[in-house]
Amino acid sequence: MPEADFNTKEKEYHPEIPQKTTPFFLKGAGSYDWGMKNRLARTFDPKSGRTVMLAVDHGYFQGPTTGLERIDLSIIPLIPYCDALFCTRGILRSLVPPQSQKPMVLRASGGPSILRELSNEEIAMDMEDALRLNASGVGIQVFIGGEFETRSVHNMTRLVDLGMRHGMPVMAVTAVGKDMKRDAQYFRLACRICAELGATYVKTYYVEEDFETVTASCPVPIVMAGGKKLPELDALTMAYNAVQGGAAGVDMGRNIFQSDSPEAMIQAVRAVVHENMKPQHALDLYRTLKDRIDREKA
Ligand code: 5RP
Repeated sequence: MPEADFNTKEKEYHPEIPQKTTPFFLKGAGSYDWGMKNRLARTFDPKSGRTVMLAVDHGYFQGPTTGLERIDLSIIPLIPYCDALFCTRGILRSLVPPQSQKPMVLRASGGPSILRELSNEEIAMDMEDALRLNASGVGIQVFIGGEFETRSVHNMTRLVDLGMRHGMPVMAVTAVGKDMKRDAQYFRLACRICAELGATYVKTYYVEEDFETVTASCPVPIVMAGGKKLPELDALTMAYNAVQGGAAGVDMGRNIFQSDSPEAMIQAVRAVVHENMKPQHALDLYRTLKDRIDREKA
């Protein structure tokens, strides 16, 4: 049976040109299916292989955090500058305009508030709801060494199983207990456990000594967690050192939205992450943008 195609133009099969197989750009993600890869390629910029995620999920355990009291006023205007927003489904539904083309990564764990033992978490969202919300990923805490270590690891593995069923990347967040030592040895252990048990990528803290051993020994991408507010130059330096040390970007919250000029800061972080801009230059960029924004607002 000939093709039902009445076009008279000669067909161009190009048998002499082998079909190109493009390797997937993200570490450890080559064996995933199309939907998973597509979600990852929306979250991580395929050109730089990195991401600037803006983390605003803090309310899920600590309520209206400084800088997040009015997400409609402080965060929505920043969305155009991030590669992905890390937020809760509550904030997504109530405040984020659905016209947004940015990928949304949703906080999928919760339970205890800051008044209780934080490692006592559960999965707090159905994968079906993440799909309904067109999420590009879900994030969950893993408390290695914490009181409820096993529960949090199993929360992650259950979420990974559901994620695999639906093509949804799972970001494991290595949460560190108050009394635990934050060093490369700990983060190598925590990140590797998350990756071995199926996390698609891992969010973890930067450490000054041997951070590159944390990224090297983790077979999936690592995004740097921001942590408490630092002076702008220190935060930019930390982001710079993290990406130079092998991180595939950042997932920063307070160091952006608690900055004197969040709009300038997120653009400076972008320059560090995507253009390898040196911290001092990024600080100059931050100051120039801040002055311009302040003038425009005056
Ligand atoms: C805690 C979290 C957060 O709730 C949040 O994303 C932290 O962001 P930052 O420390 O940059 O303010 O993941 O582990």
